[in-house]
Amino acid sequence: MKDILSELEDRRNDARLGGGQKRIDAQHARGKLTARERIDLLLDEGSFEEFDMFVSHRCTDFGMENQKPAGDGVVTGWGTINGRMVYVFSQDFTVLGGSVSATHAQKICKIMDMAMQNGAPVIGINDSGGARIQEGVDALAGYAEIFQRNTMASGVIPQISVIMGPCAGGAVYSPAMTDFIFMVKDTSYMFVTGPDVVKTVTNEVVTAEELGGASTHTKKSSVADGAFENDVEALAEVRRLVDFLPLNNREKPPVRPFFDEPGRLETSLDTLIPDNPNTPYDMKELITKVADEGDFYEIQEDFAKNIITGFIRLEGQTVGVVANQPMVLAGCLDIDSSRKAARFVRFCDCFEIPILTLVDVPGFLPGTSQEYGGVIKHGAKLLFAYGEATVPKVTVITRKAYGGAYDVMASKHLRGDFNYAWPTAEIAVMGAKGATEIIHRADLGDSDKIAKHAQNYEDRFANPFVAAERGFIDEVIMPQSTRRRVSRAFASLRNKSLKNPWKKHDNIPL
Ligand code: HXC
Repeated sequence: MKDILSELEDRRNDARLGGGQKRIDAQHARGKLTARERIDLLLDEGSFEEFDMFVSHRCTDFGMENQKPAGDGVVTGWGTINGRMVYVFSQDFTVLGGSVSATHAQKICKIMDMAMQNGAPVIGINDSGGARIQEGVDALAGYAEIFQRNTMASGVIPQISVIMGPCAGGAVYSPAMTDFIFMVKDTSYMFVTGPDVVKTVTNEVVTAEELGGASTHTKKSSVADGAFENDVEALAEVRRLVDFLPLNNREKPPVRPFFDEPGRLETSLDTLIPDNPNTPYDMKELITKVADEGDFYEIQEDFAKNIITGFIRLEGQTVGVVANQPMVLAGCLDIDSSRKAARFVRFCDCFEIPILTLVDVPGFLPGTSQEYGGVIKHGAKLLFAYGEATVPKVTVITRKAYGGAYDVMASKHLRGDFNYAWPTAEIAVMGAKGATEIIHRADLGDSDKIAKHAQNYEDRFANPFVAAERGFIDEVIMPQSTRRRVSRAFASLRNKSLKNPWKKHDNIPL
């Protein structure tokens, strides 16, 4: 008996060593943690329960029969984050470069199936050379099994990908189908074809970092949602994100204890809007002053900064925030900001997270690059996302709400539940100058007349009261009372029940 017990311990120790001390040292020398060290940091201490520690591959080609490391390059199992269950897989680059074999993929599929059955998120830590070259189509089949599960799990359980090493070729498509992707600066990269292939095909010379590093994907492509300095920081931020999310689409988001008076007045907000309507101000100030304890978890902070997306809590409950940012491109909507916000709104709606929309938008960005790039279709994504969302929607217009962008930003007409405006709101088809130049074209040569027309237009429309008279704005509120008003609005909507008509699925303008 004792021998058997010690054999188990020996086998476990062997499996825990992955590809051996030399490769572990090499991993550390690159500033990367091992698969198991990452799991230890991600999960609550001592909560990890491992599956399939002794699984090994079945390949017999290219001498693989003599190389059968226990675990086959991926550590899988479940554990808790602040007491709440999550499933996790963590690829082990020290074992055959973390490459994906048929059995490696089966291990991942097993925990994905269990996550679906038990209603808990999946967090995938990616650090892999891609499909195991020695296995050929078996490895490709394994990937496709994962892709299929990613698709089925979408909107049912949150899926989070953390890229902590190479992720190339078709392998990128599993993370791409998950809800959030986080990358580590300087040690992770994602691309469909690497720098060598790029050079051969297009003659472009580019480094792996430039082509698919964390900066590229958080600033240019928007493939990734956040970039962090190192593994430790990235994993700590994943823990923070999980705290905002429900475990599945049948559960409400968690309610945390809060130590911030919901009725807190912020008198400084009464002077947030500058006297000059063209002077910007920082919308993040409003977000943090409304949020419990000023805590704001931003998503896609470095991309399309003219719109802000992220999570706050009100009375301890998670709320998704979408806000125009007047500091960047005057807060206008364009292709990138529409795509960014639409995806966020749809995530919130899948997982029953109420949405707070803060509006200061002068309209859609004009120009050939926008039109040629399909701003009509991309703008429609955001319109569609808000229109189909059935979660509680509370909107506050702080200043401009012009044109189609007024309609898009969770207006009353898109089933906004509470539509508030500050007294500084201007709800109109367009700004006074542009409007005057169109409807008084005959007077364009007379600057006095034009100024008078513009003043008339402003007096008539640059306020929230015309919309309030029609019931499109439910109430004009004091800026200082925004937290109290918004918190009470969401509290009143906790039992909201709204269903869209039955359909197989919608046809959002992709
Ligand atoms: C088998 C692999 C492997 C792979 C790496 N290794 N990738 N083994 N299949 N795909 C092994 C190496 O042989 C090496 O083994 C160990 O992992 C570490 O790799 P190194 O090359 O020494 O590390 P490094 O210099 O850091 O380079 C990492 C790398 C490189 C950039 C990822 O290994 C690489 O280019 N690998 C091939 C990538 C690739 O073309 N993959 C297929 C992509 S197509 P030893 O024993 O020497 O330590 C794909 C299709 C997916 O993935 C399809 C989905 C539809």
